[in-house]
Amino acid sequence: EKGGYDYFMLKEIVEQPRAVADTLLGRAGLDGTLTLDEMRLSPEDLRDVTKIVIIACGTSYHAGLIAKYAIEHWCRIPCEVEVASEFRYRDPILDPTTLVIAISQSGESMDTLMAVRYAREQRSRVLAICNVNGSTIPREADGVLYTHAGPEVGVAATKTFLTQLVACYLIGLYLAQVRGYKYGDEINAVIAQLAAMPDKVERVLDTVEPVRELARSLADAHCVLFLGRHVGYPVALEGALKLKELAYMHAEAFAAGELKHGPIALIEQDLPVVVVVPSREGRSVLHDKIVSNIQEIRARGARTIVIAEEGDDTVAPFADTLISIPRVPTLLQPVVASVPLQVFACELALAKGNDVDQPRNLAKSVTVE
Ligand code: F6R
Repeated sequence: EKGGYDYFMLKEIVEQPRAVADTLLGRAGLDGTLTLDEMRLSPEDLRDVTKIVIIACGTSYHAGLIAKYAIEHWCRIPCEVEVASEFRYRDPILDPTTLVIAISQSGESMDTLMAVRYAREQRSRVLAICNVNGSTIPREADGVLYTHAGPEVGVAATKTFLTQLVACYLIGLYLAQVRGYKYGDEINAVIAQLAAMPDKVERVLDTVEPVRELARSLADAHCVLFLGRHVGYPVALEGALKLKELAYMHAEAFAAGELKHGPIALIEQDLPVVVVVPSREGRSVLHDKIVSNIQEIRARGARTIVIAEEGDDTVAPFADTLISIPRVPTLLQPVVASVPLQVFACELALAKGNDVDQPRNLAKSVTVE
C-alpha cells in the first residue's frame, strides 16, 4: 500500500499534484466560476460577515496564517489567526457576524474541537476545512469544505497541507465574489491560475533531487534557521516545524524583517539558513528587502539556501544553494514553495535513520487537550 515507496510520507509528497487537482475538481471553473454550495453556508450568511477568525493547530495553523494574507487582500475582511489551544482561554471577541474557520486535517484535534464548541456557544458561525469525512469537527460545524487529499498515513502533514491551502483560497475567492470585490480582474486571474497549480507542483517534484542531496549533506547540522516575508513567513514556519518533527533538529523560523531585532545574533559561520524569497509579481519592495537580508546573513557567514522563482537572477549571487520554483501569483506561492521544504525535512530525517512515518512522541490525531 506504500505504492513502491519505503515510507508513506514519500508517497504522500508525490501524490500532491493529484491531491491539489482533486480538491479543485468541480469547484473552480476556468471561466472564474466557483461552485461551493456544499459548504452549507448561504451567500446571505457570508454577506453579513464582519470578521473572520481562523483557528487550528500545527501545520493547519500555518495554512491559516497563509489564508489571512489572501482573505484580507481579496475580501477586505479583517482576519485573525490563532492556535486553537490559546483561543478560548483568552475571552476572545466573537459574535454572530464573526465567521470562524476551523482548519483540521483529522477533524478530531481536541484543541480545535473545543474552540469550535466555544465559538458556537458565542453564536458565531463555524466553517470547517477538513480531510476526514464525517469526523467530529465538520459534524459540529455549521458548514464544511472538505479537502480531497485522500487518506494521509504519515504523521507529518504534507498533501493535506497543500489541499488546506487550496481550500482556503477557494473560500477567500468565493467570499470576495459573493460580497463584491475590489480586485475583480485579479480574482478571476487567480481562479484560472489555481487550475495550473497541480502542474506547477509536479514541476517542483521533478526538480527536487538537488534538495535531497543538500539535506543529506546537512544531516549533522545542529540547527537550521528559516526566513520569509509575506506568505513566505508561514512557509518558513512550516519548513521549521517539519524539520523539528521529522529530524528532531532545532529549527526556527523568523519573519526576515525581524532579523535585525535580535535573531541576527544567532548567525555564525556555516549556519544553514533557508530563505523563502517572495515572487517579484507586484511586490518588488519585499523582494528587494529580502535580497538585502540574504546579503546581511551571508556577510556573517551563514550558508544560504535560497528558494526563489525561476528566472530570479538577482538572488543567485548570494545563494550557496539556489532552489528554483515555478512562477505563480504571490499569494499562491506557498503551494509550490512548501514542497522543497517537505522534501528537505523528510530526506534529512531519513539520513539520520529516523522513521518519517512515525516520528517519536507524535500521534497523527491529537485527541487530548
Ligand atoms: C505536523 C502535523 C501536526 C498537525 C496538528 C493538527 O506535520 O501533522 O502539527 O498539523 O496536530 O492536526 P489536525 O490538522 O488534524 O487538526
